[in-house]
Amino acid sequence: MTIEEIRNMYLKFFESKGHTIISPAPLVLENDPTTLFTSSGMQPLVPYLLGEVHPSGRRLVDSQPSIRVQDIEEVGDNRHTTFFEMLGNWSLGDYFKKEQLPWIYEFLTEELKLSKDKLYVSIFEGNDAVSRDSESYEIWKSLGVPEDHIYEYGVKKNWWSRSGTPEQMPEGEIGGPDSEIFFDFGTELKLHETSEWKNETCHPNCDCGRFLEIGNSVFIQYKKENGKLVELPQKNVDFGGGLERMAAATIQNPDVFEIKIFKDLITELEMHTQKKYEQNKASFRIIVDHIRAATFLAKAHVVPSNKLQGYVMRRLIRRAVVKARKLSDNAIDPNIFTSLVSEIVDSYPSYFEKDESEKLQGVIFDEVNKFHKTLDKGLKEAEKIKEIDGKIAFDLYQTFGFPLELSIEIFQEKGQKIDGEEFKKAFLEHQNKSRSASAGVFKGGLADHSEEVTRLHTATHLLHAALRKVLGTHVQQKGSNITNERLRFDFVHDSKVTPEQIAEIEQLVNSQIEKDLPVSFEMMTVSEADQKGALHFFDKKYEEQVKVYTVGDPDGEFFSKEVCGGPHVTSLSQLHGRVKITKEEAVSAGVRRIYATIQ
Ligand code: SER
Repeated sequence: MTIEEIRNMYLKFFESKGHTIISPAPLVLENDPTTLFTSSGMQPLVPYLLGEVHPSGRRLVDSQPSIRVQDIEEVGDNRHTTFFEMLGNWSLGDYFKKEQLPWIYEFLTEELKLSKDKLYVSIFEGNDAVSRDSESYEIWKSLGVPEDHIYEYGVKKNWWSRSGTPEQMPEGEIGGPDSEIFFDFGTELKLHETSEWKNETCHPNCDCGRFLEIGNSVFIQYKKENGKLVELPQKNVDFGGGLERMAAATIQNPDVFEIKIFKDLITELEMHTQKKYEQNKASFRIIVDHIRAATFLAKAHVVPSNKLQGYVMRRLIRRAVVKARKLSDNAIDPNIFTSLVSEIVDSYPSYFEKDESEKLQGVIFDEVNKFHKTLDKGLKEAEKIKEIDGKIAFDLYQTFGFPLELSIEIFQEKGQKIDGEEFKKAFLEHQNKSRSASAGVFKGGLADHSEEVTRLHTATHLLHAALRKVLGTHVQQKGSNITNERLRFDFVHDSKVTPEQIAEIEQLVNSQIEKDLPVSFEMMTVSEADQKGALHFFDKKYEEQVKVYTVGDPDGEFFSKEVCGGPHVTSLSQLHGRVKITKEEAVSAGVRRIYATIQ
């Protein structure tokens, strides 16, 4: 079965169970400065999971194109991809476990005809706050799943929220216990090497490659409030299943890259490089995955650049170019990429128009060419480097456009490591020297904008912090939009913000400006950011590096600390004025909007 076929079967199946097929959200969400890409089907539906009425009803189904950048380093094995389609179905306070589990089981076994013997499931084992999910256990049993195919795990495996376990969930985040479905490919591909499960007998989560998770029913029924889990007003189901992984299960091949869409790309690549997939699996996988992701990004109007989404796209293309060059003994034919893009466009008639191919090819080709020009020189320079360090890696980035990951890879092959911290330090030093240049990825997506926008961006952080201090910590950002004249900020709050509260918020913000507090940032992992009390609302892995902006003393007393791409002023006097809230209104149930200017 092709992925087009599986996708259609899935949508139709859930339509027959009373679901409305909804259009997927764009890959790059507008007005969501907290995430680079849509990375799960539930992400655009959060307001509805929280209780807002969805225009298409309470049973929804879709297939959501998604990108998980944090998986970029993992691509090369038999199952990780950066871009993937997530099949999703949702109950917004409608049906619950006793409908969801039988339905998805029916889909997998009756529609996709996956063998029941090969399916394993997991349920939440329970903890102090939330009891064992005995209901799901019983449902699976009643469906005929043998007891030795039902596993129980704790919060690390059978709890889902965008930010991880209940402890890791920030205020306002939603989540709940989940029940995962795994396909058994029957071979233990690796001995249990991963540290976490070392010396364990094989089981669905051991990561040896025998089992592949193909679907996850999350029972989103909790929200973090005042540090505790509280029941949401409605019990939701959020199912997400990997389309490509399901396709791999239908051909009983644990290598996702053996499914038709990838196979076709790989054949194309074999033809162009005269090399065989069998002998070069990791490189082939990286190239086809990255170019597929880049093609979808081009479709979403992303252009390779040094900022945010554009930077990710650049990384994907450049990494693919380096791999392709190696396969072709350094004499790469750039047409490889155009033919891959055209194959991708043909393979996805649901997403691409036939006549779009040329335009998308052009976007990717431009970047390939640009990189090509400096690559030869850069690689030659890199050859000469005897001992790499973070500073030199930064020079390679600056002079030849080598993303850090690329240098890491090149030097890894020579058995040398690069200290990422040192690279960042060199980057920051450079940035401090040429603040006005506003270059580079860590500067964030607003780097091109005017000084007004930068000032309003900092004012947004001040307002966010002040809103939480005056109205309470339930306040969290829902959206932000900045023009040269004003800022707009949407946040969770139930009632109108009174004129008195507005005055208090303004006063609080303006007194910080009078104190001329410094604004600075540090790079750290999400989990460090969390420990330091930085605000963040997005789905990122806890190990992922983020930029944390502090207004005040980064190591002492601060007024605001927030994960953000920037840019910001470096001290509050640079705001050149006082912040004034010009308007307050409702956006939707439980979400308010303010407009503010600097006067
Ligand atoms: N939100 C869950 C996930 O991303 C299921 O849709 O895995």
